Amino acid sequence: MVHFEQRQRPRRNRKSEAIRAACRETTVGPQHFVYPLFVHAGDGDVPIASMPGCARLCARSLMAEVERARDVGVRMIALFPAVEERLKDPHGSEAHNPDGLIPTLVASLKARWPDVMLVTDVALDPYSSDGHDGIVASDGRILNDETIEVLCRQALAQAKAGSDVIAPSDMMDGRVGAIRDALDAEGFTEVSILAYTAKYASAFYGPFRDALDSAPKHGDKKTYQMDPGNVREAMREVVLDEDEGADMVMVKPAGAYLDVIARVRDATALPVAAYQVSGEYAMLKAASERGWLDERRVAIESLTAIRRAGADLVLTYYARQVAQWLAGA
Ligand code: PBG
Repeated sequence: MVHFEQRQRPRRNRKSEAIRAACRETTVGPQHFVYPLFVHAGDGDVPIASMPGCARLCARSLMAEVERARDVGVRMIALFPAVEERLKDPHGSEAHNPDGLIPTLVASLKARWPDVMLVTDVALDPYSSDGHDGIVASDGRILNDETIEVLCRQALAQAKAGSDVIAPSDMMDGRVGAIRDALDAEGFTEVSILAYTAKYASAFYGPFRDALDSAPKHGDKKTYQMDPGNVREAMREVVLDEDEGADMVMVKPAGAYLDVIARVRDATALPVAAYQVSGEYAMLKAASERGWLDERRVAIESLTAIRRAGADLVLTYYARQVAQWLAGA
């Protein structure tokens, strides 16, 4: 064997699991997860074809699933409603119905598990007959300031029901500040705001729109969601949301936007969240179902990569499943 001086041998730090574990820079666990769940007002569950393992849950199944998640350490839940067509209108009025599906479920979840943090989405798309996050004018434009009024009412209805974290996902300008003011004026100074800060106009949301039947009826979301080519613009959104009082900022999607997560991480001292969206989940599921990928390993690796890029919290449909795998269950 040739003799050569090789003083540096990085492999020494990889030689056993004990050393690898001690030197591991990034870990991922249930404490980092926010678990998005789809809910509906009907009886029974409605499976979502493009998201195997996910369904629109009825109230009973929601309680059971939250309990299962909590048992393996997942203590943050995000709720998304599938709203009956007859309740949708151009102004998304059902979004601020105090007796609507989300306020009702928030109240019952909080009564049972006060320690579980509930994250509620603020945007009109599940409630709008147009399927847009804001109010649509007769010429097709999405009205910013008129929408914000409705979003504030929606946030208040959720806070009154007991929501812990309000998450505006609509991308209207100025909504974080307006919602902060509205919450504070009603005494909800302890309710947090998790801002969807850099939310891209992404094709990876396709399965989510199937799940909620919330795809836009006309046009797309490009006049409010960000262009996938941009990252400096994300820096600008961070400054605004921070200034307007956001407690946490989010990048969405996650997997194809790891550079944006890293840049946002450097740009703010706030906790950073990243959303592994429906399309990312669907890709991993589909390839795993065909036996082309090892599901456990790719799920954990993708979540680790999102954390390594700089995310503190990760919203993922895999939350309960991965927490179980990590617990050896
Ligand atoms: C709605 C909203 C969307 C998602 C979260 N909130 C869809 C959209 O903006 O069209 C997507 C989540 C996912 O794809 O998993 N404002």
